[in-house]
Amino acid sequence: MERNKERSWAEPYKIKMVEPVRMISREEREEAIKEAGYNTFLLKSRDVYIDLLTDSGTSAMSDRQWAGMMMGDEAYAGSKNFYHLEETIQKYYGYDYVVPTHQGRGAEHIISQLLIDEGDFIPGNMYFTTTKLHQELAGGTFVDVIIDEAHDPENEHPFKADVDLIKLENLIKEKGAERIPYVSIATSVNMAGGQPISLSNLKKVRELTNKYEIPIIHDMTRVAENAYFIKQREEGYEDTPVKDIVREICSLTDGATMSAKKDALVNIGGFLALNDEELFRKAQNMVVIYEGLHTYGGMAGRDMEALSIGITESVDEDHIRARVGQVQYLGEKLIDMGVPVVRPIGSHGVFLNAKKILPHLSQDELPAQTLAAELYVDAGIRSMERGVVSAGRDPETGEHNYPELELVRLTIPRRVYTQAHMDVVAESVEAVYYQREDITGLEFDYEPEYLRFFQSRFKKR
Ligand code: F0G
Repeated sequence: MERNKERSWAEPYKIKMVEPVRMISREEREEAIKEAGYNTFLLKSRDVYIDLLTDSGTSAMSDRQWAGMMMGDEAYAGSKNFYHLEETIQKYYGYDYVVPTHQGRGAEHIISQLLIDEGDFIPGNMYFTTTKLHQELAGGTFVDVIIDEAHDPENEHPFKADVDLIKLENLIKEKGAERIPYVSIATSVNMAGGQPISLSNLKKVRELTNKYEIPIIHDMTRVAENAYFIKQREEGYEDTPVKDIVREICSLTDGATMSAKKDALVNIGGFLALNDEELFRKAQNMVVIYEGLHTYGGMAGRDMEALSIGITESVDEDHIRARVGQVQYLGEKLIDMGVPVVRPIGSHGVFLNAKKILPHLSQDELPAQTLAAELYVDAGIRSMERGVVSAGRDPETGEHNYPELELVRLTIPRRVYTQAHMDVVAESVEAVYYQREDITGLEFDYEPEYLRFFQSRFKKR
């Protein structure tokens, strides 16, 4: 007789090396967060029990990647690891030319400086902090053209990162195509909660941008995770390998910036990939000023080797199912506990809806920053604010930007934590949720000029 029950799945790896972690006492945690100015970025890692600050550069590398590290060719110029990386990017992503950078923002800097002129507008499917800042530093203004559903944490739209084609075309008509150097398309949109864009929408964006001769630059930081959701949710792709979906996404765009510290399973690295030869030559010339020679761009030879292997592993079906599956596991658990989270659950983390959890705090009382600090105190779990603090100030008026989404991100590193860790996290969130009415807000104590969420300090109101 068939058992009519879904079977459990487990991680497609076993653990070969461990790094001990410890939980300090509640009193010590209270002291640590106060000393850190209630900013989880300013905590010391040794005081953290489960670190869900980010999935960036925090992945566990495989035995193959570590073996690759031993094959580093540390020649200043023409390292064999660069040519391997170039080949791997061409094979898996299909872009013609590669400029290595030390991480994603290095690539964002170069492309922004090369393509954006003072007074330009860059439409995109929601902003990302560093991407938008580099666009602004180059003289441009970012314009959000994501569908409205993306700003509603409870809307269950399966492709919340889709572009609103009417918003996009209206902007092009209003500003003129010559004022729009490119459209910025991210896959698995971080600030929306790790939500995917569909291939059918991306194809329409391509048609529209072709009509106006505007290129598309792809932020491909989490492209494999986006591809996995397409396989799960988009009609016609159920049986398509994730790696083919990744290729198809890339083929609809003209170039890409990559923070290899996420999808690609390395602790440091990135690149700019392009199809236009002339633009590539300019980028290659610029990388030597800011990053390093065009065959290493800030990475060691061994880093490039680990990255090539990481790209290959990132599109493996078993890997990507378990990676996104672990995030879904935590998310489902929190939903069952009644905790308000962004729906559907995203690809790289679970996003707590701080506005809804702490409705007694106004956005000026920094609900997400406050909730992140409380979570740390409860069980040593480090998360990240993604709300008014991350949104920064309007460069024109100097006022706070007030985003619709006021979130705390529980970001899951790849291949690092077990299901038991996820259970501990869920129980801690539940405990804080039940004390929510007693929680009081924070205010700024120190605020730096750029990317303030990294270094600001806060105090209790
Ligand atoms: N684009 C996206 C979508 C990102 O998530 C990040 C980094 C970057 C670009 C910049 O890349 O850090 O390599 O310079 N996100 C990290 C995070 C910091 O925690 O989400 P980078």
